[in-house]
Amino acid sequence: MTPATDNLCVVGLQWGDEGKGKIVDGLAERFDIVVRYQGGSNAGHTVVVNGEKFVLHLVPSGILHPDKLCVIGNGVVVDPATLIAEVADLRGRGVHVGENLAVSDRAHVVMPYHKLLDQLDDRGERKIGTTGRGIGPCYVDKMSRTGIRMGELLDPDGFREHLRANIEQKNRVLRVLYGVEPLSFDRILEEYLGYADQLRGLIRDTVALLNRAFREGKRILFEGAQGALLDVDFGTYPYISCSNASTSGAATGTGLPPRAIGRVLGIMKAYCTRVGEGPFVTELDDSIGALLRERGREYGATTGRPRRCGWFDAVAVRHSAALCGADSIALTKLDVLTGLEEIRVAVAYRLDGKILDVLPSDCRLLARCEPVYRSFPGWKSDISRCDAFDDLPHEAQAYVRALEAEVGIPIATVSVAPERSAVIQRQ
Ligand code: GDP
Ligand code: IMO
Ligand code: MG
Repeated sequence: MTPATDNLCVVGLQWGDEGKGKIVDGLAERFDIVVRYQGGSNAGHTVVVNGEKFVLHLVPSGILHPDKLCVIGNGVVVDPATLIAEVADLRGRGVHVGENLAVSDRAHVVMPYHKLLDQLDDRGERKIGTTGRGIGPCYVDKMSRTGIRMGELLDPDGFREHLRANIEQKNRVLRVLYGVEPLSFDRILEEYLGYADQLRGLIRDTVALLNRAFREGKRILFEGAQGALLDVDFGTYPYISCSNASTSGAATGTGLPPRAIGRVLGIMKAYCTRVGEGPFVTELDDSIGALLRERGREYGATTGRPRRCGWFDAVAVRHSAALCGADSIALTKLDVLTGLEEIRVAVAYRLDGKILDVLPSDCRLLARCEPVYRSFPGWKSDISRCDAFDDLPHEAQAYVRALEAEVGIPIATVSVAPERSAVIQRQ
């Protein structure tokens, strides 16, 4: 019989950067394994412990707990140079990284041509404002059956021939479509064989490993990257990232059956941000938007780009919470709203004189939607040291309850500062 599962999937309910890293780090203590299931080094997950800040791109956010196994699942696209640098940085700061980190042999490898094509393609009418980390082109190769997987790096002869064929094809594209210089096969081969030597000890059959752990009743924490509104199927297409960032990616990105996912914790900020292009109905192009950006330090953890800021969008989050199957929610960055006279929440959209309460699937329609706001009074006192819900100002409590009612899912946790310990548990 299958064991009942205490597993949990942490998933972003907006356009990323909701504070997933902080929440995963805070929860990791209760689990045996933390597994990333999609995305790549486009992610930047921040964890702050005793004032020390760590930004994780590929390594799961459980790594600061020495006795947890951290797994980079098959659904992740891995840039070996970034992974090696990240591991070196963690070790340099006294974090143990060794047998507690495993990388799937089925995970696809981000190659130099992916990064180059990402940058060359993200222009003009087609501009998405990607992170330039090669994520989209790497997933394209995965689907077109030409991708190179981590396991292949361990077989130098096979890797050499696969790389030769790929470089020939990519160089044709680079020359004909973009008029750029060809890439050097020899240089890339040498570079990646060097990475293979350094990563050899980490590459494992994580599908077998995770399934064995599941059968043994080990507790597994799934760490989503990006957010459901950037999901390739359910997000604001085409302004998305190229993976299933919602809960649905957790099964395909780990090789665990869907019933292993267990409960789902959605993460959402008390307002909204988005990086790059694409419609953003509640965007604030004014002094309040600038205030949220400065107070919330809304600059990309990966690219340093200023994040676009706006009011909380309940229409968008209702959509993402439903498709993710969120059982409960962690609300982050409530402290950033402190001091505002008035706080707004979009509860519906207006389009061509009609009221909509669901997110249109067509981005061109979404771009024409106007927000219908409900307004709430703000609060003045600092909440960043509160550790009980009842100690929050009444207006802050009312705001949390209103978000809960608008989204229709209980808010179990409220985060009030970047630090690991700055969380209020409500249940
Ligand atoms: P992730 O990609 O979802 O892990 O989120 P990021 O790390 O990219 O962005 C979240 C940012 O907000 C980081 O700088 C965190 O340190 C910070 N943060 C997380 N929770 C809180 C909070 O409750 N209050 C404040 N002020 N900052 C927070
Ligand atoms: P975390 O995990 C916020 C955005 C990019 C761009 C779009 C496509 O830290 O929440 P890509 O390079 O993925 O092809 O870019 O997706 N994006 C993110 N925005 N947080 C992220 O990750 C993101 N990862 C990608 O800004 O709009
Ligand atoms: Mg981030």
